[in-house]
Amino acid sequence: MEASPSSTFIFLSVAYLLVVSIGNSNAQLSTNFYSSSCPNLLSTVKSVVQSAVNNEARMGASLLRLFFHDCFVNGCDGSVLLDDTSSFTGEKNAFPNAGSLRGFDVVDQIKTAVEKACPGVVSCADILAISARDSVVILGGPTWNVKLGRRDATTASQSAANTNIPAPTASLSALIKSFSDQGLSTTDMVALSGAHTIGQARCTTFRTRIYNESNIDASFAKTRQANCPSASTSGSNNLAPLDIQTPNTFDNKYYNNLVNQKGLLHSDQQLFSGGSTNALVQTYSSNPSRFNTDFVAAMINMGDIKPLTGSNGQIRKNCRKTN
Ligand code: HEM
Ligand SMILES: *[C@@H]1O[C@H](CO)[C@@H](O)[C@H](O)[C@H]1NC(C)=O
Repeated sequence: MEASPSSTFIFLSVAYLLVVSIGNSNAQLSTNFYSSSCPNLLSTVKSVVQSAVNNEARMGASLLRLFFHDCFVNGCDGSVLLDDTSSFTGEKNAFPNAGSLRGFDVVDQIKTAVEKACPGVVSCADILAISARDSVVILGGPTWNVKLGRRDATTASQSAANTNIPAPTASLSALIKSFSDQGLSTTDMVALSGAHTIGQARCTTFRTRIYNESNIDASFAKTRQANCPSASTSGSNNLAPLDIQTPNTFDNKYYNNLVNQKGLLHSDQQLFSGGSTNALVQTYSSNPSRFNTDFVAAMINMGDIKPLTGSNGQIRKNCRKTN
C-alpha cells in the first residue's frame, strides 16, 4: 500500500516531535533525579559547603561563580573543572578565570564525600549546581529545588570561555547579548547580576572605573582608590568587595549600591546608567522579595543551559579529569 499524503504527514510530525524532544535534553533534568540512587546526596554536599563557608565566607561566592562560569561555556557540564591535557586546553586558564576562579579544592572535597556515599553516580556538573544553591542559602539568600541529572563533559574549551563569559568592561548591550546568546532574558541577566552581592574583585577589574569614570560616587571612588593604585604595575590583585555594604550576605544591597552609583565594576553600573534596565534595578533595590523570586527563576534557567543527559558525557570519578 502506498503512503497516503496524510499518513506521510503524520509520520513526519511524529519524527519531528521525536527530534525536538531529544534535542530539548533539559526535559530530562528533575529535582528527584538521585532520590533512590543517592538518597543522602543533598545533606552530604551541604555539610561540606557549610564547613568551607564557615572557614571562609567568600567561598560561598566563589562556588556560586564557578556554576556561572561552567554553564556559560557549552552548558552546565562540569567542563570548567577539567585541568588542561595534551588533547585540549581547559577553561581554568582562560582570561576570565585565570588567577581569579577559585573553589576547585572545595569541589574536590565535595566529590570525595559524594563518591564515598554513592560511588560513580553523581556528576560534577550537578555538584556545582547544588553547591551554588547551598552557598546562596548559607549566606542568607533564597532557596529552591535544584534540577539534577546533568552528566559531565569529556572535553573543555578555553576559546569558548574567552568568548562567552562577559567582561567587566562590557556595555549594557553587550551584557544583554551575552546572556541572550545563552537563551537568558534581560530580566535573568539583571537578576543574576545580583550574585555580586557577595564576593570580591581584583583591582585590575575595576581600576579604570574608579579613576576614570564619571557615573561613580566620588567618596566611593576615593575609598576604593586607597587600595587600588592607578598604575597598572602595582596592586592589581588587591581585593575589594563587590557589595560595599554587606559583602558576605546574600541580599539586595547590590542594587541599592547601583542606584547610588556605587557599583564596583563598569559592567555592574551599566545596569543603572540610564538604560533599559534602570527600572528593574530600582525595583530590586526596594523590593527584596521580588529580587529573590527573579533570582531563583534565573538560576533555574541558567542551570537548564545545554545539559548532557541520557548516555551523553560521563559521570567523572575525579572532577579534574575524564575517566
Ligand atoms: C553580568 C555579567 C558579569 C560580569 C561582567 C562579571 C564579572 C565579574 C568579575 C570581573 C569578577 C571579579 C573577578 C576577579 O577579580 O577575580 C566577578 C566576581 C564574581 N562574580 Fe561575576 N560577573 C557577571 C555575572 C555574574 C553572575 C551571573 C554570577 C552568578 C550567578 C556572578 C558571580 C560572581 C561572584 C559570586 C563573584 C565573586 C567571586 C569570589 O569572590 O570568588 N557573576 N564577576
Ligand atoms: C584614565 O584615562 C587616561 C586617558 O585616557 C589614561 O591615560 C589612563 O591610563 C587612565 N587611567 C586608568 C587608571 O585607567
